Amino acid sequence: MTNKRILEPATTLRPLPVVLLSCRDTNGENNIITLAYAGIMCARPPVVTVGIRPATHSHGIICRTREFVINLPGEEHLEAIQLCGTKSGRQLDKFAASGFTPVEASRIKAPLIAECIISFECTVRHVIGAGSHDVFMAEVLAVQVDQERCDERGWPLSGEHRPVMLNLGGYYGLGESLGSR
Ligand SMILES: Cc1cc2nc3c(=O)[nH]c(=O)nc-3n(C[C@H](O)[C@H](O)[C@H](O)COP(=O)(O)O)c2cc1C
Repeated sequence: MTNKRILEPATTLRPLPVVLLSCRDTNGENNIITLAYAGIMCARPPVVTVGIRPATHSHGIICRTREFVINLPGEEHLEAIQLCGTKSGRQLDKFAASGFTPVEASRIKAPLIAECIISFECTVRHVIGAGSHDVFMAEVLAVQVDQERCDERGWPLSGEHRPVMLNLGGYYGLGESLGSR
């Protein structure tokens, strides 16, 4: 006897940290897309994945340029997260509309978002069609951090950064520390 109920296959594996992916098209136009389908795949070399719908403007840019930056926003960026996740760069300059500042990256042409505490400069190594989303597996070539809000290892200082999580039903903040591991 069990109290489990078997559901249809689904991806209700939450919460997920919300990230902002910035990219630059071959014509020099910058764009930002809000993503929750993002994760770490490998530590050495550092490899990340993002899942992006082919219909988005960002998907086309990343296929053309094979590079992007993953930026970690904070609770203070909630409005911009929503804007970059509901409007398309085809219609709107999302850097201008959100008030974010593009900054040149060190290893790639795609811009960083200055206001985000940490940014990962990535180059695409593999593209895998998975169905509704394509998976871009990318190597991190450089990491840039806000040195006033991170420690000497480049880790965001607790109290200096409040990440945004996507849970079932909406956005959530991170709770208190439960202890070190
Ligand atoms: C919280 C949140 C998370 C999202 N996560 C994803 C995602 O992981 N993959 C994706 O393809 N779209 C995701 N979206 C939707 C895109 O951000 C949205 O389609 C965006 O307008 C596409 O912009 P673009 O056309 O400029 O690329 C998300 C939206 C929100 C609000």
